[in-house]
Amino acid sequence: MNIVAQKLSDELELTQHEFWNISHQTAEFISMLIKISGVKNVLEIGTSNGYSTLWIADALKDAGNNGHLTTIEFYEKRQSIAKANIEKCGLSDFVTFKQGRALEILAELDFAPDLVFIDANKSEYIQYFDLLKDKLPAGAIILADNVISHAAKVADFLETIKNDTRYQSQVLDLPAGLLMALKLV
Ligand SMILES: C[S@@+](CC[C@H](N)C(=O)[O-])C[C@H]1O[C@@H](n2cnc3c(N)ncnc32)[C@H](O)[C@@H]1O
Repeated sequence: MNIVAQKLSDELELTQHEFWNISHQTAEFISMLIKISGVKNVLEIGTSNGYSTLWIADALKDAGNNGHLTTIEFYEKRQSIAKANIEKCGLSDFVTFKQGRALEILAELDFAPDLVFIDANKSEYIQYFDLLKDKLPAGAIILADNVISHAAKVADFLETIKNDTRYQSQVLDLPAGLLMALKLV
């Protein structure tokens, strides 16, 4: 990670609770996964101030295989903070920001992501999955944060993905709980 991104990441961690950011450990895990897997088309649902966006974009840059992140945020104010943060560390070329309701944007999505990071409205996780599950290519990865911290709200999502034989999934014991699922076919 370049020094500017590293400094900004450290700064953003001071306001982590205000912006509902993922934990540092989760960010490190996602970054390593991107570098190992060589994913190219990443979709993030829930940008906030761009903390996870920074980590994903930085990992795509380091991976060096023309990967790109599209990230969705409903609140314009948070999105403009995120844009400024990504700009500050020179990662703007790696990120497309979409402003609006996730369900509406997902319904019109014009590309098939090979990595989806779900971190928006917990009660809508099941609907995000329903909109994406058939479109994702084999080998695609789904990550979803807060599956332990918000277990009741995401129970239907967890049950559905567990029972979908096209997906192999596991809840990882990272802070808040991260679901990782692999589309097999
Ligand atoms: C948990 S925060 C995202 C944190 C971010 N991924 C990070 O770790 O830095 C969730 C964000 O999703 C946004 N959000 C919630 N519901 C949404 C929806 N239906 N459509 C788009 N964005 C939504 C919220 O405004 C909030 O900024």
